[in-house]
Amino acid sequence: MTILVTGGAGYIGSHTCLELLTAGYDVVVFDNFLNGHEEALRRVEKIAGRSLRVVEGDIQDKVALVHALRTYQCTKVIHFAGLKAVGDSVSDPLPFYKNNVFGSITLLDAMAECGVKSIIFSSSATVYGDPQWLPITEDHPLTVKNPYGRTKLMVENILRDLFHADPSWSIGILRYFNPVGAHPSGLIGEDPRNEPTNLMPYIAQVAVGLRPYLRIWGDDYPTLDGTGERDYIHVVDLARGHLAALAALGAPTLFSVNLGTGESHSVLEMVDGLKHASGREIPTERHSRREGDAATCYADPSFAKSLLNWEASLGIQEMCRDQWNWRVNNPNGYDT
Ligand code: NAD
Ligand code: UFG
Repeated sequence: MTILVTGGAGYIGSHTCLELLTAGYDVVVFDNFLNGHEEALRRVEKIAGRSLRVVEGDIQDKVALVHALRTYQCTKVIHFAGLKAVGDSVSDPLPFYKNNVFGSITLLDAMAECGVKSIIFSSSATVYGDPQWLPITEDHPLTVKNPYGRTKLMVENILRDLFHADPSWSIGILRYFNPVGAHPSGLIGEDPRNEPTNLMPYIAQVAVGLRPYLRIWGDDYPTLDGTGERDYIHVVDLARGHLAALAALGAPTLFSVNLGTGESHSVLEMVDGLKHASGREIPTERHSRREGDAATCYADPSFAKSLLNWEASLGIQEMCRDQWNWRVNNPNGYDT
């Protein structure tokens, strides 16, 4: 079975391509390399011992999508492609609506034209807004706080409308919590092109000496140690969640599922974890809260377990070990 993976050269996409190849799927990556890396795909092939096909293209280009779907006879799509920097979405929203919303519509249109009606969509816990209860279940109200989140919710709604109009589609909406870590080989990982805004890549860059210190955004939250708490999930667990979701797309269906661990960890716990994994000092500086941040956010992962027979198996020790292993072996990412 051949899977078209949009955004397959990115962080989560590359880890998922590796799991797909290892499980015997054929893979066609469709990526414009805006934030992806060809070298990541070469390394995926090296680890898997199998090759994949790469189509350089933009998901806003329907002709290119139809060509890729038909040429390689893809039967399902995993759709990662999009922009994800929340701050950029506030200062410059139009590229987000073009890439994430128009791009997704174009992809669905191309799929419909080719009779390919199975898709997994990368959504995010951001669609829950400020948690009204914890752990967050899938029936939590959906509300968003920034344009990035709005694009995710818009695409979710488009997918629900599409299924309502044509129930022969198979649609899996996966809401990721906080993906971190890297493949244990140390060969692939997250390689942000700009200064990271997410916690774990930032801590790893401090540990390896690329940045002088970590700014801790807020130490006065109503949490155990005062710093923000999140549901960090190892990217390999997350990638495997996509294979479980693919298996559930055998028949027409529409589901929305949390992919998280059900546990939350504070900023200070993650700093300690990386300190331990790296044996390096990680200087920190305490700052006031970052606008828009919730104190605590974690998933109820039980629906994923019952529906997909999937659950996360890797803990923060493995997340920190692999985050460090990737960064120390590739201090400048794929340009090392
Ligand atoms: P990433 O930036 O590493 O990967 C995205 C990939 O999509 C890149 O390879 C990029 O080149 C490609 N791309 C972007 N726009 C494209 C376009 N118009 N046409 C073709 N390719 C395009 O991001 P990631 O962390 O791997 O995230 C993957 C998906 O998961 C995104 O949709 C993101 O919004 C979602 N998500 C990520 C997180 C997270 O914390 N990483 C959390 C929740 C949801
Ligand atoms: N933090 C710091 N210093 C930093 C970066 C982060 O103290 O330099 C703190 C934050 O305040 C927060 C925690 O670390 O308490 C995690 O922050 P991240 O930026 O890593 O993650 P968020 O939970 O804020 O957001 C991430 C993605 C969103 C996505 C959300 C839920 O960036 O796109 O997870 O999936 F919507």
